[in-house]
Amino acid sequence: MNRAGQLLIRADGAEVAKEAAALMVDAMQTAIAERGVARVALSGGSTPGPAYNALADARGVDWSKVHWFWVDERCVPADDPRSNFAAAKRDLLDRIGAAASTVHRMRGELPPSAAATTYEATLCAKFGVSRERALDLDADGRAGLSFDLVVAGAGTDGHTASLFPGTGAVGHTSSLVTDVEPGGDLEPRVTLTRPVLVGARRTLVLCRGRLKAPVIRAAREAGDEESIPARLYLDARPGSVTWIADRDAEPRDSIPPMGI
Ligand code: 6PG
Repeated sequence: MNRAGQLLIRADGAEVAKEAAALMVDAMQTAIAERGVARVALSGGSTPGPAYNALADARGVDWSKVHWFWVDERCVPADDPRSNFAAAKRDLLDRIGAAASTVHRMRGELPPSAAATTYEATLCAKFGVSRERALDLDADGRAGLSFDLVVAGAGTDGHTASLFPGTGAVGHTSSLVTDVEPGGDLEPRVTLTRPVLVGARRTLVLCRGRLKAPVIRAAREAGDEESIPARLYLDARPGSVTWIADRDAEPRDSIPPMGI
């Protein structure tokens, strides 16, 4: 297994969703069998919705043992159409009847830095670790705060989670959660930091559409993380990361310019 992890190419968005849901079920069942609980961090954006819908139809997962967290959140109220929590609630959590006690959202309605510190406290409480020791490694090289599954995406600018290029966010390693000013028209965000993402037991990076081909290619090659934060997955445990893309997003060898 190379550092870039597996890259699965599927025919279209529906097949990406089907594959992602199957791998999510597998990761959750494994976690429940091994540790009695599955802790899953969800992303927003347009790509994961169909996968969440497919997952909601899946059989064989004891939903009472799955705890839901977020990779990142836009700083908007929980019922705002741009809220990542609202999207996951609609596409998945309401459909499976997730108990409120299993849903741990980022509080996008708070001022960004308060939302980040509040979520850090939530993570420590739910994983039963202190903030200071959360990323300490055990004998297996595993941090106390290790998600069983992270569902991530990648933006055309190279961001993943809400670690946007040029903001310094991907270099932020002193906390578990941070707030970010993405710039442009985007609202402030709250996001898991690089060490938390890198430490996940399983990570799926879902991508769709031809605009994603260059970012998949760049993210799977070593280089500057500040310009392509999605490169952080190169540092995850070998075998833990799977990129799932549709055929349009498949990175292809570049075609040499005419005349060469
Ligand atoms: C968000 C996300 C973000 C997303 C990428 C890809 O809140 O927007 O969590 O990191 O995964 O931007 O988004 P698409 O699936 O819309 O391309």
